[in-house]
Amino acid sequence: MTATLFDPVQLGDIQLANRVVMAPMTRSRAGPGDAPTALNVEYYRQRASAGLIVSEGVQPSANGKGYCRTPGLHTEAQVAGWKAVTDAVHAEGGRIVAQIMHCGRVGSHLNKDPGAETVAPSAVRAKGQIYTDAAGMVDLDEPRALRLDEIPGVIGEYRHATQCALGAGFDGVELHCTSGYLPAQFLSTGTNQRTDAYGGSLHNRLRFVLEVLEAMTAVAGSGRVGMRICPGNPFNDLHDDDPHETFAALLDAVSPMRLAYLHVIRSPRRSLDSFALAREHFRGPLIVNDSFDRASADRVLDAGEAAAVSFGRSYIGNPDLVRRLREGLPLADFDLATLYTPGPKGYTDYPAA
Ligand SMILES: Cc1cc2nc3c(=O)[nH]c(=O)nc-3n(C[C@H](O)[C@H](O)[C@H](O)COP(=O)(O)O)c2cc1C
Repeated sequence: MTATLFDPVQLGDIQLANRVVMAPMTRSRAGPGDAPTALNVEYYRQRASAGLIVSEGVQPSANGKGYCRTPGLHTEAQVAGWKAVTDAVHAEGGRIVAQIMHCGRVGSHLNKDPGAETVAPSAVRAKGQIYTDAAGMVDLDEPRALRLDEIPGVIGEYRHATQCALGAGFDGVELHCTSGYLPAQFLSTGTNQRTDAYGGSLHNRLRFVLEVLEAMTAVAGSGRVGMRICPGNPFNDLHDDDPHETFAALLDAVSPMRLAYLHVIRSPRRSLDSFALAREHFRGPLIVNDSFDRASADRVLDAGEAAAVSFGRSYIGNPDLVRRLREGLPLADFDLATLYTPGPKGYTDYPAA
């Protein structure tokens, strides 16, 4: 018999009660010191019937923060805040991993702590603007290129964040490796103009991501580390000359690490089938994402093409999405205006069916 969304599944060392995954979503509602609060506990608790929650992107360091009010995972207060979240999810029988997101060049100093910097593989500014509480929309910062001798320290931030994640009771960690953030900046020709061991050849462009994964798996064990990709994603002014070649080589290199899962988003490039690429080059469970509904999710599981399916936008207005999908109940819409605003409105006030 083939699997459905409601059957359990094992992703590495993480046992899921069902195959409905809540996709990571930045909601910009962290409290003072970028620490989660009781409001965030309630939001995740409401959604704990997902087989797995992937947290919103969390910065592994002050430099890694790009957007306003995003939570971190590098101070004691942040670990304590997240511990309350993971305890609440576990009390409901759920599982939750932390998505480690270093924004690199995508950010504004106005969203960062005093003294924190916007750093990237190369000093190439992304075209575009970003929201700040202090000044509204502003141009993205001009990043400072990381010196070669600083890179081990940045990899160390991912190692430390992984240690913090385990201390906070997360079931694992997911490396955010898309959407134009730091790992994607190292992978891509447009943003990586380095001439040292971390740039130039394809082999060198992969080095940062592989060393980050080695650091994360050394701490958590490979069965508790996942990675999220979207080959060909131009978000945040990202350009790569040949994303198919880059991601095929990356996945060939990552496969022997035996990660818990690969979380793969449909490519916006029509000519690039990122699910097929993942199946060909990654040996391990796949979570697939983007614009799935119950019928298309069942099809992909039925065909054995993925282990689980993640849902983003549907989770905003439907905290009980698993039940609604199972019982064929209607799905509620969400309010765009309150996606990233502080407070409970548009966050914890969407009722269960
Ligand atoms: C409000 C919002 C915030 C998001 N934040 C993140 C994020 O922090 N990390 C990430 O990898 N993807 C992020 N995404 C992308 C989603 O995880 C997902 O890939 C996207 O919504 C497509 O899936 P869907 O069609 O099920 O919504 C975000 C999406 C939305 C709508």
